[in-house]
Amino acid sequence: WPKTHSRGLIDRETEQRVTELMAGMSLEEKVGQMIQADLTTVRPGDLREYPLGSILAGGNSPPLGAPDRAPASVWIDTARAFRAASLEVRPGHTPIPVMFGIDAVHGNSKVVGATIFPHNIGLGAMHDPALMRRIGAATAEETAATGIDWAFGPTLAAPQDDRWGRTYEGYSESPALVKSYAGEMVRGLQGEPGAGRMLQSGHVAASAKHFLGDGGTTDGIDQGDTDVSERELIRTHAQGYVSAIPAGVMGVLVSYSSWQGRKMHGNDSLLTGVLKGQMGFDGFVVSDWNGHGQVPGCSSADCPAAVNAGLDMFMAPDKWKELYHATLAEARAGVIPPSRIDDAVRRILRVKFKLGLFEAARPWEGRSGVVGSSAHRALARQAVRKSLVLLKNNGRLLPLRAGARVLVAGEAADDIGRQTGGWTLSWQGTGNTNGDFPNGQSIYAGLRAALAAGGGSAEISVDGSFKRKPDVAIVVFGETPYAEMMGDLHTLEFQPADKPDLALLKRLKAGGVPVVAVFLSGRPLWVNAEINAADAFVAAWLPGSEGGGIADVLIGDAAGKPRHDFTGRLSFSWPKSAGAHHLTNGKQPYDPLFPLGYGLDYRQAVTLPKLSEESGVSAATWNVDRYFVNGHTPAPWGFESGPEDRVATRAVDAGGVQEAGREFRWNGLGSDSVALSGPAVDLRRQANGELSLMIKYRLDEKPAAPVQLAMRCDPRCDDAAALQLDTELAEAQVGQWRTLKVRLACFQEAGVDMARVSRPFEVTTRGRLALTLLSVQLTTDPSGTICLPRAVM
Ligand code: BGC
Ligand code: BGC
Repeated sequence: WPKTHSRGLIDRETEQRVTELMAGMSLEEKVGQMIQADLTTVRPGDLREYPLGSILAGGNSPPLGAPDRAPASVWIDTARAFRAASLEVRPGHTPIPVMFGIDAVHGNSKVVGATIFPHNIGLGAMHDPALMRRIGAATAEETAATGIDWAFGPTLAAPQDDRWGRTYEGYSESPALVKSYAGEMVRGLQGEPGAGRMLQSGHVAASAKHFLGDGGTTDGIDQGDTDVSERELIRTHAQGYVSAIPAGVMGVLVSYSSWQGRKMHGNDSLLTGVLKGQMGFDGFVVSDWNGHGQVPGCSSADCPAAVNAGLDMFMAPDKWKELYHATLAEARAGVIPPSRIDDAVRRILRVKFKLGLFEAARPWEGRSGVVGSSAHRALARQAVRKSLVLLKNNGRLLPLRAGARVLVAGEAADDIGRQTGGWTLSWQGTGNTNGDFPNGQSIYAGLRAALAAGGGSAEISVDGSFKRKPDVAIVVFGETPYAEMMGDLHTLEFQPADKPDLALLKRLKAGGVPVVAVFLSGRPLWVNAEINAADAFVAAWLPGSEGGGIADVLIGDAAGKPRHDFTGRLSFSWPKSAGAHHLTNGKQPYDPLFPLGYGLDYRQAVTLPKLSEESGVSAATWNVDRYFVNGHTPAPWGFESGPEDRVATRAVDAGGVQEAGREFRWNGLGSDSVALSGPAVDLRRQANGELSLMIKYRLDEKPAAPVQLAMRCDPRCDDAAALQLDTELAEAQVGQWRTLKVRLACFQEAGVDMARVSRPFEVTTRGRLALTLLSVQLTTDPSGTICLPRAVM
């Protein structure tokens, strides 16, 4: 293992202060420091009884008093309320400020109005570590200005299989590039190692994640197993830490994944032996969202094994009370040795002192003109320009003349939510509208401004239809937002089922319009047909809130001379087929369509020949979360219902869309079910992530008998595990569309084994009933979710 050491974390004065503070702390207070609770379940008043060391805002967790998305002012109030509670002067209480952490992973990205930088995959394409440092500094300023002390980043994964839904959180598949960025990002967020009083200078604590091997799981499965040799673990997955630790990174988040079948959260030889020992890390190690609960013998509420393996702080979003009591009992009983507790607390307090948390003055907190400042947005826009990679430019279509008449098409053209992707305002990045980005600019808005300034014009037409033929069309399309787990794929084929965006490109082309494709994605995908259908093709990744950066490069001056050239080069190799998932891990010969480092610019005239449109994989892609959408049952799901004379079914128009719905009529001839069924799938991760089963339906005829909603397993699990749908249906009005969201956890508590769900949806009744389904799928959106009572069988 590389020998490194933390710079700037240990000094005599700080250690002395820690020693003095710890001398007055009770065991309860020490254990409390080791626990971090999430905003969804903790209130400032709880800190009186539970002296917790830290608070986090998870991806979907709103600040105090806000329903969900909120601006900086609400976050500041929240941070202050918790801090004040932790500092209360009371007998028998040692005032120690709580440390407040958030996923500020591409800018302070959970706060309305913040500058949203491109996701790391785009930043990697800049190949510019110095700019990375400035982005880190800007992110820190916006985080500190919001009253928050700690950013859960940078992600130092070197993703080796692009099917992984977190690929975009990594800078590159190349460990060398990750290494060149990691230290710079840490310096940007935290300032120079050893400078001290970081919050007072607009810096925050960073934590490198996820240690170790998160980007190397088999088949790119989130939280999976990284089954590689130790040499490979060092060579490919540890390189970011080699520069982050000497840059003084204060925290390290443990990976959910396993190495050679063993959960990282319980791996003492890697957490203690390697990270704290050989690599000399002096900051603290924090678990990932209930990740300790996955260690064999542990639960989210109890895990001495993780502490003994080297964990210093539990990220215990919901089970912090139980965890506190359990850990305290284990510390008292010596199951966790006193020396381990003291080491953990010392590391945490060391960071709190170095961070400047104990200082009363916080000159950056609430400072106006920082969050979403024009300087930060200009920096983000520069990053957008530098991250774009030009893959095709036949006939030198780009750059466009500033005087051109441009049709701007595609669903992502005027949608800032699509530009920003996951980990933006919400966990999965879903549900965001342009209104949620008061300081942001869509790609279309940026194009419109640039063309208007040059005497040209931009007309938006999402479906590409036009009255007067434009000079050229720019089509902005790509992946819809996702984050961990939800973003995992089975093949790299873009839009495997039907290809609406390809159809759009082809329509424009057939109309004689030259086409520029701007592709938004969190990873390289197999888009050969789309590349063929366009004259120019730009990989724009997930550029963030500053859509204007695209126009800066695509639109030239009045004479068509570039204002900015393409300088971005691939930081991930681009696959030749949909089945070419892992290009660099040595299992296959390295034979990408476009290699690492590829990218055209305006100086070259390169004509890309037509690419093969053979995907190399079967069309049906596995999906575990969408059962019935847009009138289809995507593979591997299908409807199963009672015989036609008992349950009649037909496709019906719904929501103005032809055959988008499916109607079911129970004739009341006996107990009959309607189900969506397929092979057994594992939904444990989804249940843990608080996902819900979302059913959009219309009641067409009121039920005549009780109705049950169930999930079923294969092989069979508890038959009694059904929930009552009666109250829900009693509230529903005939003819009205409704959305029902039932938490997966409710099914689990009713006895469904989430490891092998073969019927994620089953409705049963013996009386008459008619309803039309519009969609049945899982959702991450927590609004309006409920539990239903258990059915009495
Ligand atoms: C993710 C981390 C994240 C944490 C807090 C986890 O599920 O893996 O990357 O920092 O949640 O939201
Ligand atoms: C994420 C959190 C998120 C939660 C949703 C976790 O896995 O990391 O940030 O809020 O799931 O319940």
